[in-house]
Amino acid sequence: MNAVTASAPGKFVIMGEHAVVYGKPAIALAINRRFTVVVRKSKDFRINGERGNLSLNPHVRHIYEKNGSVPVSISMESAIPPGSGLGSSAALSVAVSAAMRAVNGGSLDSESIAKEAFDAEFSAQGRGSPMDTSASAHGMGIALNVPGCREHLWNIEKNGRSWDVCDVAVPKMSFVLGCTGIRAATGPLVEKVRKYKDRNRFASDIVDEIGTITLEGMEALNRNDPVRLGSLMTYDHKLLSILGVSCNELNKLVDAALPYSYGAKLTGAGGGGCMVALTDRPAEVADIIRSRGGAPYIVSTREEGVRVENIN
Ligand code: MEV
Repeated sequence: MNAVTASAPGKFVIMGEHAVVYGKPAIALAINRRFTVVVRKSKDFRINGERGNLSLNPHVRHIYEKNGSVPVSISMESAIPPGSGLGSSAALSVAVSAAMRAVNGGSLDSESIAKEAFDAEFSAQGRGSPMDTSASAHGMGIALNVPGCREHLWNIEKNGRSWDVCDVAVPKMSFVLGCTGIRAATGPLVEKVRKYKDRNRFASDIVDEIGTITLEGMEALNRNDPVRLGSLMTYDHKLLSILGVSCNELNKLVDAALPYSYGAKLTGAGGGGCMVALTDRPAEVADIIRSRGGAPYIVSTREEGVRVENIN
């Protein structure tokens, strides 16, 4: 075999980011923007043609070592804006895991890939939940730690926390993303919430409240009730703002989208990155986001998870 091409989707979070790190419920959908990698056996380790410095790519390094440290050359191409809360790093880890496994004749089931990619992300960031890697590996929609799910996919445990990952039916609702263009790394934002939560009892209460309303959001999703889901999303944005992970640019885009939406909130780690609006007026939301300096994406969902595109 000369080369393996694999790809994995980005995602957005409908509700529950940050609180999910503490084992609370969350819901995420895969989107039609993918990270694609081509992995070839090689004499030395290369990334995009350059001799790769593995210490600069700790998650790739983790996957590389888990797959026998066979030297490979990796080419990467992504349609997921990085540092935008849309799961670009998780999609990279998932795609690299699949491609390296294919190169080495390893198992290609999405559970093993999701777990390996989460370990890689966790070893690089030292924190976080398996939401992004699970969403990217499974595709479609997932819920974490939501009781009574329709199809249990896998359970992941780390440092005394446990996440049950389930498939959710992708709602027939339309979502528009609005990206601020401000790149924000996930690790420091997760750390900021942890410190806040450790210092302030009420910050823990906010995290609990996000968990509670996410369960209500799941019920609204199952009932196909965009009015209720949207109002819970907007409330979630307020709670995330109190936790200190929103910013003026995100608030501006959320405010602009709200008159045309059932609800809107930041999505992913925050601090910049993107917001998401639940709306049945996607073109108007996209226009208003653009007029406020954001980059709109009318995303489509029902996106397949990780896949090996080509082996030759
Ligand atoms: C990032 O997409 C979501 C966070 O909850 C971090 C995580 O779950 O790993 C902020």
